[in-house]
Amino acid sequence: MVFKLAVTTVAFAALASAANFKRVVCPDGNVTSNAACCAFFPLMDDLQTNLFEGQCGEDVHESLRLTFHDAIGFSLSGAFNGTGADGSMIIFSEIETNFAANNGIDDSVDALSPFLTRHNVTAGDLIQFAGAFGITNCPGAPQLEFLAGRPNATFPASDGTVPLPQAEVDSILSRMEDGGFSPAELIHLLASHTIARSDTLVPGHQAVPFDTTPFTFDTQIFLEVLLKGVGVPFGVNNTDGAEVDSPLPESNEMRLQSDFALSRDERTACEWQSMVNEQALMMSNFKSAMAKLAIVGHSAEDLIDCSDIIPTPLPPVAKPATFPAGTNSSDLQLVCASAFPSLSADVGAASIIPECPDGDTNLNDCPS
Ligand code: HEM
Repeated sequence: MVFKLAVTTVAFAALASAANFKRVVCPDGNVTSNAACCAFFPLMDDLQTNLFEGQCGEDVHESLRLTFHDAIGFSLSGAFNGTGADGSMIIFSEIETNFAANNGIDDSVDALSPFLTRHNVTAGDLIQFAGAFGITNCPGAPQLEFLAGRPNATFPASDGTVPLPQAEVDSILSRMEDGGFSPAELIHLLASHTIARSDTLVPGHQAVPFDTTPFTFDTQIFLEVLLKGVGVPFGVNNTDGAEVDSPLPESNEMRLQSDFALSRDERTACEWQSMVNEQALMMSNFKSAMAKLAIVGHSAEDLIDCSDIIPTPLPPVAKPATFPAGTNSSDLQLVCASAFPSLSADVGAASIIPECPDGDTNLNDCPS
């Protein structure tokens, strides 16, 4: 009797697992778990060939930024209009690209919009898919989830849903809370700034990096933002409070006021510091926070899980976090009392010029 029950249980378990593991062969021969995911294979090829070119470059960075700006157009309190990750940044681009916090976002909107005419996907799905797939070109990025089926936005998000870099921590945290995110989740999302360069904040300059390794999804951003600032790149100060002194102005590195303030605020400093030299932790934190961001305004049950089509990202670089040449532990400005990892310092030239994946050091032209 006991034996019979055990056999029946095993049989049920096997059936249930077979049901969960559906296999659909798409018209192009690709295999996935749901026919609704098939449309994303040709989109993936098109994005890789005609936009990302296999690099963790400007278009990948901008696509990732767009995932946030589209999704955070949402408000639990009702203080702002917006239905979250809904493609409104593209559908209502003539309105939303004019908002101050969206400065420069028109590049990614213009780059992605043509893909909507070639593929039968919604604008919200396109944005989140481009972000999740794009970062697989970045060494060390986590393999993000991707759920499909976001309906198209029917109205634009209000101005004010995207935090400004000059905003105070109180206002950033309260906006994020109204968007459904805790202070810790915001810091997890800010791992994105490990592959970031500003095109708009430094007068007369584009592609000004936030850390020394803007083409690698590593933890340098969490370390470098904690170092004492000594000046601004190119000697040109942004006048609206969005930028503060960086530790490496001669390397053309810049620093956002918001990153600086969040890394030193009691509410977020320990979360920030915890990811220094903790690649696996940063990857898993970012993956969880992005899973939530990508479906803001939706319920996962209403969407179709197409995560199995996201390729495995490039592996992390085999290098621990290091103090950039010319800096060391005495430059750290730590608010969190937790132990800080012991790190070595890079040797060589004091100035580290971030390079493009192809070795080009012209930051304005990397990659085109
Ligand atoms: C407090 C919240 C945030 C603020 C104030 C902020 C602010 C900024 C600013 C001012 C830029 C430079 C834009 C430019 O001049 O080109 C930037 C770049 C970027 N941000 Fe954020 N950001 C925040 C959160 C996020 C989040 C949550 C993500 C993604 C999950 C993200 C992803 C990016 C990326 C990838 C870039 C680089 C874009 C490029 O290199 O072209 N940011 N951010």
